[in-house]
Amino acid sequence: MLHPSYLPHLLFFLLPFLFLPCFSAAVSETMGKACNQTLDSAFCITSLQAVPKSDSADLSALALIALNLTYSNVTSSTTKLLALQREATSPAIKNSFEACSLLYNNIIQPLRWASQFFVSKHYDVAQAMFATPLFAPTNCAEAAGKVMEQDGKNAFYLMLMTRKFMELSSS
Ligand SMILES: *[C@@H]1O[C@H](CO)[C@@H](O)[C@H](O)[C@H]1NC(C)=O
Ligand SMILES: *[C@@H]1O[C@H](CO)[C@@H](O)[C@H](O)[C@H]1NC(C)=O
Ligand SMILES: *[C@@H]1O[C@H](CO)[C@@H](O)[C@H](O)[C@H]1NC(C)=O
Repeated sequence: MLHPSYLPHLLFFLLPFLFLPCFSAAVSETMGKACNQTLDSAFCITSLQAVPKSDSADLSALALIALNLTYSNVTSSTTKLLALQREATSPAIKNSFEACSLLYNNIIQPLRWASQFFVSKHYDVAQAMFATPLFAPTNCAEAAGKVMEQDGKNAFYLMLMTRKFMELSSS
């Protein structure tokens, strides 16, 4: 028999587990099914759960939420790259960050087009807008190194996710 004074501690440790089912329940069936068809379903679910309205979103709303996440990720990477560029002391490193900035900036317009084509139900064209942007994060990480690796991974996975949701919305 546990001494009653242990109880609060016990509860404290168990609390996260007690609430776990509630968190996983927040994954809607639509989200679960859609994320299951992406390269990394855990990444997909975690990313979407940052946006509360994902829970009640249908497939095409999820595509737009994913597109928004991609957009804010990419713009925050461009902001980070500007700061890195400013702080860089060697011209070679400055150049590599500048190259990266160009690569990331070139993602933004295709994302806007993808959004417009998707909303007007030109699903194939919307998906095609990702063809070139998908290479940018990897090319950037190759030029700029470790400091851009995680950004690159996030941007790449978010773009893949968005494109997959757009594909699923069209069928
Ligand atoms: C996702 O895939 C896993 C493994 O294939 C499966 O067990 C699970 O039921 C799927 N979830 C949904 C929501 O389809
Ligand atoms: C970028 O995406 C990742 C994965 O979804 C997320 O964890 C991170 O917070 C995002 N960053 C920004 C600035 O949006
Ligand atoms: C996308 O972001 C914009 C600006 O933050 C917001 O107004 C819009 O509602 C968002 N759309 C979706 C589908 O999340």
